[in-house]
Amino acid sequence: MNFELTEEQLAVRDAARDFAQTELLPGVIERDNKQEYPKEQVKKMGELGFLGMMTDPKYNGGGMDSVSYVLAMEELSKVDSSCSVIMSVNNSLVCWGLEKYGNEEQKEKYLTKLTTGEHIGAFCLSEPEAGSDATSQRTTAVDMGDHYLLNGTKNWITNGGTASTYIVIAQTDPEKKHKGINALIVEKGMEGFVVGKKEDKLGIRGSDTHSLMFTDVKVPKANRIGEDGFGFNFAMSTLNGGRIGIAAQALGIASGAYELALQYSKERKAFGKPISQHQGIQFKLSEMATNIEAARLLVLQAAALKDQGKNFVKEAAMAKLFASKVAMETTVEAVQVHGGYGFVKEYHVERLMRDAKITQIYEGTSEIQKIVIGREILKD
Ligand code: CAA
Ligand code: FAD
Repeated sequence: MNFELTEEQLAVRDAARDFAQTELLPGVIERDNKQEYPKEQVKKMGELGFLGMMTDPKYNGGGMDSVSYVLAMEELSKVDSSCSVIMSVNNSLVCWGLEKYGNEEQKEKYLTKLTTGEHIGAFCLSEPEAGSDATSQRTTAVDMGDHYLLNGTKNWITNGGTASTYIVIAQTDPEKKHKGINALIVEKGMEGFVVGKKEDKLGIRGSDTHSLMFTDVKVPKANRIGEDGFGFNFAMSTLNGGRIGIAAQALGIASGAYELALQYSKERKAFGKPISQHQGIQFKLSEMATNIEAARLLVLQAAALKDQGKNFVKEAAMAKLFASKVAMETTVEAVQVHGGYGFVKEYHVERLMRDAKITQIYEGTSEIQKIVIGREILKD
């Protein structure tokens, strides 16, 4: 596979790098401390086209490929993964799913606003008792003729408080199991829809994660995405692409931590020389650099396959599994390279270490990625 980046892809990467350094870096520590949602930053992300990168320009999107998207995700995640998860959910789980499976009216009404950031989107699959075991949906969408009556609770929803447009997965016909599940577009403000408390998290503390409660919410039939019973396949298909975005986020966290460790190791002196001149530290840097390159190749491979319209289910899961492991290992070592300074907030690496952990949990835990990979390998 040829991974030489085009002029356009390089320009996107450079623009994202510039944005992250000038707009996200200042204030990132404070936002993390205060669990402050990056409102101004998200607004600018919308203005610059980072919220609907892959969507067709006729819906106000950027019309870019997935490779450009992962390059941008990596750059933002080097600095602020709260911003990049907001971007990832909006791009890969909401805009992509709506563009691929929604009808023209839905795209006109919702997608055109989601791509610009006028509206923010949320993807609501997980429940208190249905996380990895996602087919065990307890939320119900009872068919009432012209509308569905939605009841239940969703958990851990990214953009839960700030979104205007929610894609909610719910069970219509339990007898049909996953073939009886639907995906519905729910608007904030619909009667009976309540946003629960914001979670107090270990990492990505600027992003807002909420539970959502639905009590007899009337959702028009026109808001169902795809045919009756398509909701679970919709969610799985959408998550395949989402996993590439989270793999790119993990890659960004790892490369951000590595760059900080490399720089610090050249500046910090111990035993009369920069610590980078001690072989023990060099070995750490060598392992980090090698793992990051391997992760980058997996991420680019998955994105390139998606762009070529080929099957990328296994490659997306592999990229997420590996890049999230690399993010965790690299950030722990980056803290070690910084010594005591790594343990305080000012040096950024402790935040990257806290942020890294979520990449092994959301959009399918590492164990779930192994299940997905295993099934694909055995299919082959
Ligand atoms: N791609 C396409 N289709 C898939 C699929 C995939 N990766 N994985 C499963 N499916 C399809 C199957 O083909 C099957 O459909 P058909 O009957 O039409 O063939 C259907 O889904 C059910 O599959 P299984 O019988 O394999 O179901 P299962 O219950 O044994 O396991 C699972 C399914 C793979 C474990 C799935 O439940 C899963 O992916 N769980 C993890 C859930 C998850 O990733 N949640 C993320 C929430 S969003 C989020 O986290 C966002 C964020 O943080 C920012
Ligand atoms: P469980 O499914 O209860 O898993 C617990 C442990 O058991 C894990 O280690 C898991 O890997 C393991 N396990 C479970 N089943 C198996 C098995 N068959 N084999 C081996 N091991 C297994 N969800 C959304 O829908 N939308 C969002 O926007 C969203 N954002 C999130 C943001 C944050 C900050 C967090 C923390 C979560 C978010 N999630 C979201 C939910 C996330 O996708 C789930 O937390 C995740 O899928 C795991 O589900 P669970 O927490 O119920 O863990």
